[in-house]
Amino acid sequence: MLETVKIVFITKGEKKEFQVPLGTTVLEAAHNNDIDLEGACEGSLACSTCHVVVAKEYYNKLSTPSEDEEDMLDLAFGLTPTSRLGCQIIMTKELDGLELIVPDETRNVSINN
Ligand code: FES
Repeated sequence: MLETVKIVFITKGEKKEFQVPLGTTVLEAAHNNDIDLEGACEGSLACSTCHVVVAKEYYNKLSTPSEDEEDMLDLAFGLTPTSRLGCQIIMTKELDGLELIVPDETRNVSINN
């Protein structure tokens, strides 16, 4: 049986809980469960539309963002100290119960065009 972990999206003030398979990215988890997280570049670190705000108690459990992720995050709308790009967070057992706020607005800045 596929092992799953809990992920909680907070969107427009509403909490939505899902079980997702280990190894799923936050972006995939959102898409598979109809959460409105854009992810315009489909995880290739060329946009900032998969921006999520991670609950503080989980933020330190995440691996450190790469420089590329930091660069894209700088362009995200409504950046916070616990902001991350959803496509770069991979669900592990440690992250079971991960809570994320999906910002209401994103700004799509693509470096490809
Ligand atoms: S989907 Fe574009 S950076 Fe995550």
